[in-house]
Amino acid sequence: MTSTTATTATTAQASAASDAPTAGTPGAKKRARSILGLVLNGREREDLIPDGLLLLDYLREVVGLTGTKQGCDGGECGACTVLVDDQPRLACSTLAVQVQGRRIETVEGLTEGGTMSPLQQAFHESLGAQCGFCTPGMITTAEALLRRNPNPSVDEIKTAMGGNLCRCTGYVKIIESVQVAAATRNASARASS
Ligand code: FES
Ligand code: FES
Repeated sequence: MTSTTATTATTAQASAASDAPTAGTPGAKKRARSILGLVLNGREREDLIPDGLLLLDYLREVVGLTGTKQGCDGGECGACTVLVDDQPRLACSTLAVQVQGRRIETVEGLTEGGTMSPLQQAFHESLGAQCGFCTPGMITTAEALLRRNPNPSVDEIKTAMGGNLCRCTGYVKIIESVQVAAATRNASARASS
């Protein structure tokens, strides 16, 4: 565990202590908290969090990773999609404590060496990143698809991305972006084999 992590946990513990209700205070109710330990974007960390905290709020408000977006906040739009052990998952419908010990990836974690990954580059160049609000969820969902199926058909892309809604523009450029990313990744894999 890094010193930053230890500091975070210590700060959170201090905050928890100051939040604790004073014994005998009328109506005071102690909120249950847990130490959440996970691997987030390749780095281990621990935080003391309320048991009822959503994964979306943990990522955005506790960790400060605001790439994961809050769209409908009701499991309908896919804007909040993150990867949990390589599988897409809605962060607005997942408690943070449910990912204890798991490997979480957000759109920030998909960069490679500080630059855009081929998938992110494809969304940029093929105009799949249209409004920016749905894009993080589109990219994390597409990343999960390409990890399990490096050469998806258009129908397979449509099926995989079915839970990610675009409310403004359309899906043609998004699908093209995934196809371009698949071709780039496959060419890269062939070159290095
Ligand atoms: S914000 Fe999570 S599905 Fe819409
Ligand atoms: S491109 Fe984001 S909602 Fe349409």
